[in-house]
Amino acid sequence: MLKIVVCVSGGGTNLQAILDAIDSGKITNTEVLAVISNNVGAKALERAEAHGIPGILMTPKAYPDRECFNKAFTEKMCELSPDLVVLAGFLVKIPEEMVAKFSNRIVNIHPSLIPSFCGVGYYGLKVHEKVLERGAKVTGATVHFVNEGMDEGPIIAQKAVEVLQDDTPEVLQRRVMEQAEWILLPQAIDDIANNRLVVENGRVKRSSQAL
Ligand code: GRF
Repeated sequence: MLKIVVCVSGGGTNLQAILDAIDSGKITNTEVLAVISNNVGAKALERAEAHGIPGILMTPKAYPDRECFNKAFTEKMCELSPDLVVLAGFLVKIPEEMVAKFSNRIVNIHPSLIPSFCGVGYYGLKVHEKVLERGAKVTGATVHFVNEGMDEGPIIAQKAVEVLQDDTPEVLQRRVMEQAEWILLPQAIDDIANNRLVVENGRVKRSSQAL
């Protein structure tokens, strides 16, 4: 059984997609130990509670500096000791010490086709604003393992989504969620839970056992 901790900051629709996929059997062999939010008002915490999953608040604001927060956050994660950490719309940079302790055991969903529209400053609605500003005709979402860089870890899965002429950032965000994020992230968790993926030389491959 893959034990996961899901980290969230906002609406928690990706968290909901994970919970629904576990309930419907699309994700197997997986249990959510806890949901961590950096934001006390996150709707995601309500979604966790409605599912009987413990919600934990870990906000940098409660600590004197980022170093103290990073230490406390890493300690909390080690205490929970998940097999996999899932960043589902989590807006806090993962401390390097946590990345080192959970090497290739942290996954993130990013709402663009990495390496486009990613890195510092590209989060939430801003990603979709930049896609529209640039006039891109295709965007999408990426699930990747987290390393020390920003959106730079090994890519697990990607899905393209069309950009339409009259899109607003909000409309595009919704389409990327519906057509890519809510599908890709549960699939990636199911693949990991069922040992279908291996990381070799910084690249993710399908394990030969699973073929
Ligand atoms: C998603 O688009 C995610 O890719 C991005 O932030 C958004 C979070 O949405 N990083 P939600 O909290 O899962 O509804």
